[in-house]
Amino acid sequence: MTLPTYKEMWQQADEVWTRTARPARTLIKVGVATCSRVVGAEETLETLRREVQARRLDADVMLTGCLGLCYAEPLVEVIRPNVPGILYQLMTADKVASLLETAVAADGNAREHALAVMGDKEFGGLPALGSLEFMRGQVRRLMANCGVTDPESIDHYLARGGYEGLVGALRLKPVEVIDEVKKSGLWGRGGAAFSTGLKWEFLYNAKRKPKYLICNADEGDPGSFVNRNLMESDPQLLVEGMIIGGYATEADKGCIYIRDEYPLPVERMELAVAQARERGLVGEGILGSDFSFELEVVRGAGSYVCGDETGLLSSLEDRRGMPKIKPPFPAQAGVFAMPSNINNVESYTNVPLIMRHGADWWAEMGSEKHKGTKMFSLSGQIQRVGILEVPLGTPTSDVVMRMGGGPPKGRKLKAVQPGGPLSGVIPASDVDIPLEPDPYRERGVLMGSGGLVILDDTNCIVDLCVYFEWFAEDESCGRCTTCFAGTRRMLEILRRISSGRGRLADLELIKLLGSIAQNANCFHGQGAPTAVMSMFRFFEGELLEHVERKRCPAKVCRGLVRYEVLHHSDRLPAAEAICPTNAVVRDNGTYRIDQLKCIKCDACREQAPYAIAVVDEFAPA
Ligand SMILES: Cc1cc2nc3c(=O)[nH]c(=O)nc-3n(C[C@H](O)[C@H](O)[C@H](O)COP(=O)(O)O)c2cc1C
Ligand code: SF4
Ligand code: SF4
Repeated sequence: MTLPTYKEMWQQADEVWTRTARPARTLIKVGVATCSRVVGAEETLETLRREVQARRLDADVMLTGCLGLCYAEPLVEVIRPNVPGILYQLMTADKVASLLETAVAADGNAREHALAVMGDKEFGGLPALGSLEFMRGQVRRLMANCGVTDPESIDHYLARGGYEGLVGALRLKPVEVIDEVKKSGLWGRGGAAFSTGLKWEFLYNAKRKPKYLICNADEGDPGSFVNRNLMESDPQLLVEGMIIGGYATEADKGCIYIRDEYPLPVERMELAVAQARERGLVGEGILGSDFSFELEVVRGAGSYVCGDETGLLSSLEDRRGMPKIKPPFPAQAGVFAMPSNINNVESYTNVPLIMRHGADWWAEMGSEKHKGTKMFSLSGQIQRVGILEVPLGTPTSDVVMRMGGGPPKGRKLKAVQPGGPLSGVIPASDVDIPLEPDPYRERGVLMGSGGLVILDDTNCIVDLCVYFEWFAEDESCGRCTTCFAGTRRMLEILRRISSGRGRLADLELIKLLGSIAQNANCFHGQGAPTAVMSMFRFFEGELLEHVERKRCPAKVCRGLVRYEVLHHSDRLPAAEAICPTNAVVRDNGTYRIDQLKCIKCDACREQAPYAIAVVDEFAPA
């Protein structure tokens, strides 16, 4: 079979894309990714398809990925011929009929559901998408196709400049590609911030064959979902990045290791690889050259330490996901003891852009020291949960407080956790620091892979450390005593403090365990005390309140609070009905909480928030 040339592929793709970009009849796009799936986007898509057909409307319905505005999902864009697309928010299936009646059949705008007009210009009294607080200040390079193209169409990707980077790379020698990546200043986005070009050089210089190029798509940090978005919304960008990496390092085989809890990214990446193979972009003699490269998607083993690069290698070898001892480093002896290179999804996806536009263009964005853009996910106590892309060095406050809208109304920012349970936290007073590694490192915190988790005054720092230490202990692979037993001891002490039995000597024990942890084999064990160390550094007062006064200022630690009925309310019968232990007791027409029965589950307070309050356990009844 003769495979098409790049030019032929592009021409065919352009025709397909033009039908989407400038449709001859109404086009309805529905964003379906994990975030929108959980709030019903698939039902919206199915209902739209069914209703458009049943009503015989002159319209097409199309799938797209995630624009990053998770707080407004499900999102539907309606593009009428010669009119900019209008984005409708919170479009659950029950609103489809009203959308079709006004925005499609009657050629108007369903204003009550409209969020914005696509692009940078307002239209019909609706604001431009680019003018929304969430979008202003973003520079969408990696996310350019997210929520715009169909992630299941290689044509859409090709038509918008996809694989131009690969064509350019194939004209160069592998070392010249590596030089361009080094010149850009790209460093790994997976957490350790090591130069990507330099890592590629290590693999290029390794002479044993076969050589492996591996993508770390394990994304196990709770609160991180940037890799997921790229794989679900623009999977070909990762395929192209890995093919270029394979060419530059003279690797024989690529492998995308995706966490098992990510079924949709697995599905879309498998389809993307298959489509690339059909077009001759993966396999033998890529684009008519003498370069061959195989690519495979592998499902992860479901453990956090499988995200550590050597844990991932063990898992790929079908062993328990236990981090290996270094040296040897992966470039010397990686998977199956052969030379290997491991990079994060976001690291690979930057490469097609560097090769398409050049390292100088790429490095125009970012701060003096840290070049390029970086994607961040926003979650926790924040008004606008979502995914955004900003130049490195953007003030954290700009992203958290302005774009994300800060904590819910009436609450105060307490801290920001920048990149997973091993990263630590910065306090609200430091929220203006630039989003780049150095200012975080100076505060004993790691910027990590970009999962920003926002904490407000309803969160307790001790309770948070209990969670992180539980996570570290639960996920430890069990190799090092300092890790599996050290985290267990730390957890016991923190639980003691949160239950009201803490003592001053515990603080010294925690510090001792924190210093011993540095002897662990991998960063899982070494980083496990980072959040606790942030607590000592920034929240010592709150910690001492727990230890000395047996008070939890945020009223979260169960051992330090109790539930009381403070007011009468007609919601109290509902609270009585929901209590799982019958602790809400009615006596002579009034209510009280039986403290011996109460397990502090909070269900009653959710039912009767005016009447039932959480008070200090050691305050007078
Ligand atoms: C416990 C642990 C979990 C990790 N999880 C991930 C992960 O999910 N994704 C990732 O890219 N890197 C993760 N890392 C970092 C990797 O070890 C490695 O540094 C990274 O994949 C290298 O890619 P990069 O140079 O492109 O950043 C983890 C590290 C540790 C210690
Ligand atoms: S530090 Fe923890 S996770 Fe890493 S190898 Fe040791 S026991 Fe395993
Ligand atoms: S906190 Fe839970 S257990 Fe306690 S009274 Fe309320 S519902 Fe019952």
